[in-house]
Amino acid sequence: MKQRETWATRTGFILAAVGSAVGLGNIWRFPFVTGEGGGAAFLLVYLLFVALIGFPAILAEFVIGRKTELNPVGALMELGGTGWKYVGGIFILTGFVILSFYSVVAGWFTRYFLEGFRGSYGSLLAGYEGAAAEAGEPEAAIMFADLSTGLDAFVFHTLFMAVTIGVVALGIRRGIELAVKVMVPAIVLLLVGMAVWAFTLPDAGAGYAYYLSPEFSVVAENWTTLLPAAAGQAFFTLSLGMGVMITYASYLGEDRNLGRDGTAIIGFDTGIAFLTGLVVFPVFFAAGITEPGEGGAGAIFISMTEAFATISGGHLIGLLFFGTVMIAALSSAISLLEVVTAYVIDEKGIDRWKAALGMGSVIYVLGVPVTYDLIFLDLLDGFADGILLVFGALMLVLLVGWIAPAFAVQELEKGIGDLGSLGEAWLWAIRVPVLVVLVITLSLGVLEYVDFLTGPFADWIGENV
Ligand code: PHE
Repeated sequence: MKQRETWATRTGFILAAVGSAVGLGNIWRFPFVTGEGGGAAFLLVYLLFVALIGFPAILAEFVIGRKTELNPVGALMELGGTGWKYVGGIFILTGFVILSFYSVVAGWFTRYFLEGFRGSYGSLLAGYEGAAAEAGEPEAAIMFADLSTGLDAFVFHTLFMAVTIGVVALGIRRGIELAVKVMVPAIVLLLVGMAVWAFTLPDAGAGYAYYLSPEFSVVAENWTTLLPAAAGQAFFTLSLGMGVMITYASYLGEDRNLGRDGTAIIGFDTGIAFLTGLVVFPVFFAAGITEPGEGGAGAIFISMTEAFATISGGHLIGLLFFGTVMIAALSSAISLLEVVTAYVIDEKGIDRWKAALGMGSVIYVLGVPVTYDLIFLDLLDGFADGILLVFGALMLVLLVGWIAPAFAVQELEKGIGDLGSLGEAWLWAIRVPVLVVLVITLSLGVLEYVDFLTGPFADWIGENV
């Protein structure tokens, strides 16, 4: 049998995992779902979710991957029995669904980046003045409406997907590790710089208050919607619940300290999301957007372009910003396609490049409707985050906690040493409290999605078909 690929350097694994985690989830999705959830109340539930559910769950994926050295489908079957191949199948499906819309959104960032070479963001917005006056909306909103659907979006979706396929086809070492080593430091520097600048904005205080002072009564009143939204965001941003971390841990040849790696990955990812909030909310309020939940998928594009159009040096900062997000999105998209590709290579014995091209093409086609109408973004994103990822995490916890617990603590202890009662504590945490929260969250998520299907989506069908 062909020798399985492994990470080239000791840091390769952690860099790639961080590269997968840090992406559109932190910079594009986090601000608008935080806005939809009412700001600080959402932030609080999200942070609790990351620490109390995300951390034990990422360890579960790590031990499964490193123990079996297999793709998610093979890994689940080896540990749980053949019936688990269906669960693994759902993981692969999740990869399809997420990457399909992810590539379209990443295409928007690519477009905004390249637009910056045609002129400053201020001059680009000036081009929309007429249309904006006619519609009675800000130029930046018209620009987003123009670029986010139609042929413009289609072309950049195509471009982004082609690059993703190319990197995955090149293989684990050459493609993924390299991309990440550049991107992670760049993004941290850029966000810190922008957060400092945002601090100087006129209405920054209102932005911080909205973002950082939770009202517990709001949490208590809205927990049925906050819980699934926070869970979906937590799993999405950590790349959890569909086997990315299983796949990446399966290339670990050595005994790394998985507890420390998990902490570092989660710390990085959460730190970057938090920093993004420190940039975006002051900018929203400075721009007079006091209902940040209403911006939806376009929020970050609209508010940031306006900001880049007004501040001095905005042209360069804008280029850097959109460019960095584009690279961050690429390293996440790579991980999504890698899961699907690893499955086809391992289980069907197909060459890497054929697998990447074949699967990538199907995913590409699935994403095309999003370039036609943004309702398809809600359709795919809501299904993936509200249902599929939470379901996936639930299954992982069930497998490690109840079905095949014998190996788990032992595997975790490799590279750490004797965990004593901590290992047992981890197992019992995922066996009962984590499991119960996930069951409740999944049920709420299904209800929300049904509401979407029978509400906004049904209306859209009624109007358009
Ligand atoms: N974590 C990535 C992000 O935040 C998205 C992702 C989800 C990647 C699931 C892989 C798996 O952008």
